[in-house]
Amino acid sequence: MRVIVTGGAGFIGSNFIRYILKKKPGWDITNIDALTYAGNLANLSGIEDSPKYKFIKGDISNPEDVERLFESEYDYLVNFAAETHVDRSLYEPGLFLKTNVLGTQLLLNYALEKRIKRFIQISTDEVYGSLESEGYFDESSPLSPNSPYAASKASADVICRSYSRTFDMPVIITRCGNNYGPYQFPEKVIPFFITKALKDEPLPLYGDGLNVRDWIHVEDHCDAILAVLEKGEIGEVYNIGGGNERTNLELTRIILEILGKPESLIKFVKDRPGHDRRYALNCDKIKAELGWSAQMDFADGLRKTVEWYLNNKKWCDDVISGEYMKFYELHYRERS
Ligand code: NAD
Ligand code: TYD
Repeated sequence: MRVIVTGGAGFIGSNFIRYILKKKPGWDITNIDALTYAGNLANLSGIEDSPKYKFIKGDISNPEDVERLFESEYDYLVNFAAETHVDRSLYEPGLFLKTNVLGTQLLLNYALEKRIKRFIQISTDEVYGSLESEGYFDESSPLSPNSPYAASKASADVICRSYSRTFDMPVIITRCGNNYGPYQFPEKVIPFFITKALKDEPLPLYGDGLNVRDWIHVEDHCDAILAVLEKGEIGEVYNIGGGNERTNLELTRIILEILGKPESLIKFVKDRPGHDRRYALNCDKIKAELGWSAQMDFADGLRKTVEWYLNNKKWCDDVISGEYMKFYELHYRERS
């Protein structure tokens, strides 16, 4: 199989490429990535010389770049490329719409013309909006996004749906919960707090710290995407969750405990505007229809992840760019 992976220099995309090269040694992967502040070729070190892997630097919202990509023939496309950080989407929503919505639509156009056999849209649980302490979202729950990031992902989902219904395109959408694991850019809460704690700097916990996220190890997510790619039903949506709900405060305490750092590092700061209270997914469909379920124990996965960051401090220092720091300084000044 010849597979396009977009955004393969980011966190989940790079883990997915490693996963596929291991699980499907006969497959050829072409990774197109714009190498934004969040995309780093260091995430793919060791595989750049593989004859089964090719990299194209390109922007999915730029027609010339996408045209160049589609000069070759492919079977599948897995679309990870996106602007992904909710906090940044508060400052630059237009960029989120350009990449996440228009970029996806451009890929759909070319994939349609080139008769791609399967187009997998990597979406998120955030499209459903927020839950209080009870209940779960299933695939038929209404889309009710609250942040510009979530709205851009929900928009991409409905555009994918329209291409599937109108043009009979083989599109499948996956909606996953919060991922953790190696190579996650240290702006997202787990690697951010690990790297802060290692420097004995305060961990800025938004609001009352009681917002809940459902955590899944990135390798379980990759495994689910492969199941969907090979066995998923065209035109369908699949939720993917780890079943590990934790409040941010619980999560922060576990990270500090693993690192042997004091809880006095926790600093409650001004809440994120529009902060979703709780995400939780009903994943019965993917379990029943595709036989997939998450395997990683949360305590083990988190411990391994902390170890990875301890062993890769240089990676953390190297991936932080000036562009990210400009955002960081403004954002956390406003929160404190
Ligand atoms: P990430 O921010 O780590 O990586 C995004 C990648 O996309 C980067 O390599 C970046 O350079 C690339 N990119 C950005 N704009 C681009 C453009 N215009 N053209 C080409 N490449 C571009 O993100 P991630 O956490 O790996 O998320 C990957 C996908 O999974 C996203 O679509 C995201 O919405 C979805 N998702 C993420 C999570 C999570 O917890 N991280 C959960 C559910 C779904
Ligand atoms: P994040 O990793 O940004 O993912 P998302 O917003 O997509 O779920 O944040 C996870 C949770 O951690 C979210 O409830 C916001 C919270 N958070 C903080 O309390 N402080 C921080 O500095 C960050 C980055 C996140």
